[in-house]
Amino acid sequence: MASEHLKQLLLDGPVPEHVAVIMDGNGRWARARGLPRYRGHMAGMKAVREVVEGAIEARIPILTLFAFSQENWNRPTREVSALMRLLQLYVARERDELVRQGVRVRVHGDLDRLAAGPRAAIDEIQAATAGGTVLRLNLMISYGSRAEITRAARLLAERVRAGELQPDEITEATFAAELYTADLPDPDLLIRTSGEQRISNFMLWQIAYAELYMTPVLWPEFRREHLFAAIHDFQKRERRFGRVTTG
Ligand code: FPP
Repeated sequence: MASEHLKQLLLDGPVPEHVAVIMDGNGRWARARGLPRYRGHMAGMKAVREVVEGAIEARIPILTLFAFSQENWNRPTREVSALMRLLQLYVARERDELVRQGVRVRVHGDLDRLAAGPRAAIDEIQAATAGGTVLRLNLMISYGSRAEITRAARLLAERVRAGELQPDEITEATFAAELYTADLPDPDLLIRTSGEQRISNFMLWQIAYAELYMTPVLWPEFRREHLFAAIHDFQKRERRFGRVTTG
């Protein structure tokens, strides 16, 4: 059922090509209900399904979700384990539906830190969905932007040392080609839930010109209508990329 909001969006177009989301507020959602934090993350999984379906309905081709940050490793072991189990549950529950929907899942981050179980789940979902052409879904896991940028610098330095590249051949383009997002356009729109006005080490290079949309809605309550509202807001903005408008 296409809502009025959605119909209007598609008429107003263009929709952003790449939407990135900092999913925040799971813990607060759980606490407000007297529930353990992992229940907030469980509820957040439903919101992930909503936003994937909403992106498909709104014809957004690329969606990137911040699912687990490098800083999240510092949470209590119990919560980290719960989040890793949830990743495996997500793959088990959603795999077939994602394949049916034509979603291609890629996972990016420092995946060497993950245990064998979650690593296998990631391999499985990437392999199963490799043929998807409707929506590219990027899950950023064990991800930190500064670490990603540092890694890119290291990879370029190695190429210089190997004689493949001269230092003066390092450009924004060669640098961007060493990031996890090498084959993706930059996000046009970055959404953050739960009312925080921070970027929290997420895609610092890639969001240079992104429109920012902060909403007080807690992630477990985020529904496709909230995504449509964010896109609608985006469509009303004038993007100049540092230039002036003529006329
Ligand atoms: C931030 O809320 C959210 C996370 C650290 C994890 C996000 C995970 C999910 C939405 C579920 C799993 C999704 C996939 C794709 C497997 P928070 O805990 O920082 O909330 P708080 O700021 O209110 O404490």
